[in-house]
Amino acid sequence: MECSWKTVLLLVCASLGIQYTAIRSLRDSFSSPCQGSHHCQHRELKEYTWRSLCDDGLSFGPFNSQNRKHIILFATTRSGSSFTGQLFNQHPDIFYLFEPLYHVQQAFTNSSTRLRKILDRRALLGAYRDLLQNLYNCDFYFLENYIKPEPKDHVTSSFFRRGSNSALCSPPVCEESRDAQDSDEFWCSKKCRTLNLTLASKACQDRGYMAIKTVRIPEIKDLRILSEDPRLNLKIVHLVRDPRGILASRMVAFMDQFRAWKIWNATGRRPHYVDLAQITRTCQDLSDSAETGFQKPSWLKGKYLLVRYEDLARNPEDKAKDIYKFIGLEMDEKVRTWIIHNTNRSAAQEGNYKFSTTRNSKATAESWRLNLAFDIVQTVQSLCNNTLSLLGYKIVNSVTELRNMSNSLVEPRTFLPFS
Ligand SMILES: *[C@@H]1O[C@H](CO)[C@@H](O)[C@H](O)[C@H]1NC(C)=O
Ligand SMILES: *[C@@H]1O[C@H](CO)[C@@H](O)[C@H](O)[C@H]1NC(C)=O
Ligand SMILES: *[C@@H]1O[C@H](CO)[C@@H](O)[C@H](O)[C@H]1NC(C)=O
Ligand SMILES: *[C@@H]1O[C@H](CO)[C@@H](O)[C@H](O)[C@H]1NC(C)=O
Ligand SMILES: *[C@@H]1O[C@H](CO)[C@@H](O)[C@H](O)[C@H]1NC(C)=O
Ligand SMILES: *[C@@H]1O[C@H](CO)[C@@H](O)[C@H](O)[C@H]1NC(C)=O
Repeated sequence: MECSWKTVLLLVCASLGIQYTAIRSLRDSFSSPCQGSHHCQHRELKEYTWRSLCDDGLSFGPFNSQNRKHIILFATTRSGSSFTGQLFNQHPDIFYLFEPLYHVQQAFTNSSTRLRKILDRRALLGAYRDLLQNLYNCDFYFLENYIKPEPKDHVTSSFFRRGSNSALCSPPVCEESRDAQDSDEFWCSKKCRTLNLTLASKACQDRGYMAIKTVRIPEIKDLRILSEDPRLNLKIVHLVRDPRGILASRMVAFMDQFRAWKIWNATGRRPHYVDLAQITRTCQDLSDSAETGFQKPSWLKGKYLLVRYEDLARNPEDKAKDIYKFIGLEMDEKVRTWIIHNTNRSAAQEGNYKFSTTRNSKATAESWRLNLAFDIVQTVQSLCNNTLSLLGYKIVNSVTELRNMSNSLVEPRTFLPFS
């Protein structure tokens, strides 16, 4: 057994290597709020949960993850989530984040391929969840693992859509303060310059509510671990929209990706290479998530509200009140003012407001009916018929029916919170 010492050495090295990697990744994933903490209770909970539970290390403000309330606006791209997110963003007691998961997706995307690809979906979902957990804990340092270029001294100039997060654009995070007349998204990136993540953490801890909008998590089941964390007390606002409207909106917003659809829409002839998979996937995710909600699993009890964008657009103030009732907070006058100026074109013009989202929300939610070729509508209806009927969207059988706007395609439905 001449070579045995070598073998042993090799094994020891390998095992040290593994341990080193494990410790390193543990340390990396350990974020500052937990450092030096002596009271990591509930270790028997799932591994990713206990990390956020030992949060007695970093404490700037009056709120911590136990007495703060946490909200997720769970949506899909082009389903009205920016509009709905503003209902939270405008409230002075809510710390709102507009899609922080963007940074994670970027980090997991291979941008060297022409069609940008996600390298590992399961790992990505785990990273999404870890980031949400840490952000709900007001730990902004955790984001530094993903922001490109890497922040220096906890300061970054690359925070995604900073201007859509009012707390990150107001004192003390941003020294400048603005009046309502300046409230467009670009004001912030011009005036506030770099973002100090320590200040962001502090500002987060000064508010009793935190809301995060995301369109990047496919299914509500992917939120189960967060929902089961007793100290998060998560409220899930599940925003849905008619998939025909989602598609029409994506065609406008993502021109390159939807070129074949645009050709189809313009010529009435369907290119053979048109990609039906994405909208099919969207519909599947919508109905899977809604079905999960309708089944009322115990992990969603008291935590789930389904909102149709069309209902919100038609009746924004009442629907906003329902949402606020669900999260257990009084709707602020600022939210009401924002709604009036962004859903009523004449009021907006009268006040000379410069909101970038100014539009008539009711008209916008349904405008797809005038902007999609009937052939496309029929195709989506057959790909998504279950989703449409589950969420209460009527199908049309003729162009006349499609274009006749006095005929609503949204069946009256009441979606009560699951309590
Ligand atoms: C990214 O894609 C390119 C081209 O397909 C490939 O050569 C490269 O290895 C990929 N990078 C990673 C990190 O997978
Ligand atoms: C960021 O803010 C913290 C807290 O106010 C401060 O101590 C730190 O110096 C700031 N960082 C930079 C780079 O200005
Ligand atoms: C819209 O604004 C105009 C002008 O301020 C006002 O007269 C009208 O009542 C408003 N409509 C709604 C639905 O709020
Ligand atoms: C589809 O085509 C119609 C008529 O050419 C056009 O008005 C509409 O804007 C197009 N829709 C989209 C989503 O591009
Ligand atoms: C959806 O379409 C399938 C196949 O055409 C049909 O069997 C099913 O009954 C339809 N579902 C609804 C809810 O209309
Ligand atoms: C549009 O729908 C309404 C309500 O169903 C109906 O009364 C009207 O005749 C329709 N208009 C056309 C042009 O078909």
